[in-house]
Amino acid sequence: MTKIQNGPFIVTGASGQLGRQVIDNLIAAGAGPIIAVSRSPEKLADLADKGVEARKGDFNDPASLGLAFAGGKRLLIISTDDLEPGKRLAAHKNAIAAAVKEGITHIVYTSLTNPVEESPITFSTDHRDTEALIKDTGASHTILRNNLYTDLVLMGGGKSIGMGKHFAAAAEGKTGYVTRADCARAAAVALMQETGSSILNITGPEAITQGDIAAILSEIAGKDIPYIPISTDDLVQAMVGAGLPEFMARVFASFDEAMASNYLGVATGDLDKLTGWAGQSARDFLIANKATLLAPPQH
Ligand SMILES: NC(=O)c1ccc[n+]([C@@H]2O[C@H](COP(=O)([O-])OP(=O)(O)OC[C@H]3O[C@@H](n4cnc5c(N)ncnc54)[C@H](OP(=O)(O)O)[C@@H]3O)[C@@H](O)[C@H]2O)c1
Repeated sequence: MTKIQNGPFIVTGASGQLGRQVIDNLIAAGAGPIIAVSRSPEKLADLADKGVEARKGDFNDPASLGLAFAGGKRLLIISTDDLEPGKRLAAHKNAIAAAVKEGITHIVYTSLTNPVEESPITFSTDHRDTEALIKDTGASHTILRNNLYTDLVLMGGGKSIGMGKHFAAAAEGKTGYVTRADCARAAAVALMQETGSSILNITGPEAITQGDIAAILSEIAGKDIPYIPISTDDLVQAMVGAGLPEFMARVFASFDEAMASNYLGVATGDLDKLTGWAGQSARDFLIANKATLLAPPQH
């Protein structure tokens, strides 16, 4: 990897799980200066010893972003976690406007696989429209269309093992699961290395079905965990029955619908081209996290 020296590198959302790992990657590569922007900079106090400057910045508070981005050259905008359609776009718009005002030379953005109108994922168009706003700035940019995190399988996988069945509303659709750690590697390299303006599909090495996930869970559990395809409505009902608010259940079910209609069945060599690492397979990741999957359920 060719390191470029033209920091400061700014990482937004720096106290989030992805943001933290991006900063770790930058530090490990010796890149700098690094500016970590967060709504809660106090959570980043430990990074001061590593030479990282923490600043306060909230995309929903445009007035905070001038100081947050001042003096930066290459900026990673980590998409926010707002689930209500339209909210992310409004927040990202403020971040992009501040980036332009502060003279940021390269914007990296964490988008989503196939961010198109037709995608069932409820906030898909927020990503599509954010990408368009970034392109419209005329600044050079790297759009990282991250596929679903393999890490998300840890949330429901333990439950599937406990129930002895893996329910999903994904039919036979495939997903190019990618680990959060690999997304962090990609974002750090996109900050450090000149890529020109590009859209990259950040995925794992292969796209797999929920039947494949069930087979991996079976291997981990040492017993058969069959995949039981169910309807989206049944999935929503089950999640609501388990205590999830219906709005959130519909958001999560929209991921399954996107799998079923093959919006997430994308696996490319883009991660490898960018970082020189093809990515951890879902099987390797889940086996490495076997203890989490086999842990007794938390009540
Ligand atoms: N591909 C996938 O499967 C997948 C899964 C989950 C999430 N995501 C997306 O990827 C992003 C990073 O993932 P993660 O695992 O790090 O999620 P996370 O740990 O839940 O972090 C949420 C992130 O959103 C940031 N954020 C929320 N509101 C913000 C605001 N008003 N202004 C600026 N930043 C704001 C947080 O920054 P601070 O708290 O530091 O301000 C934090 O970095 C998520 O926010 C979401 O957009 C993707």
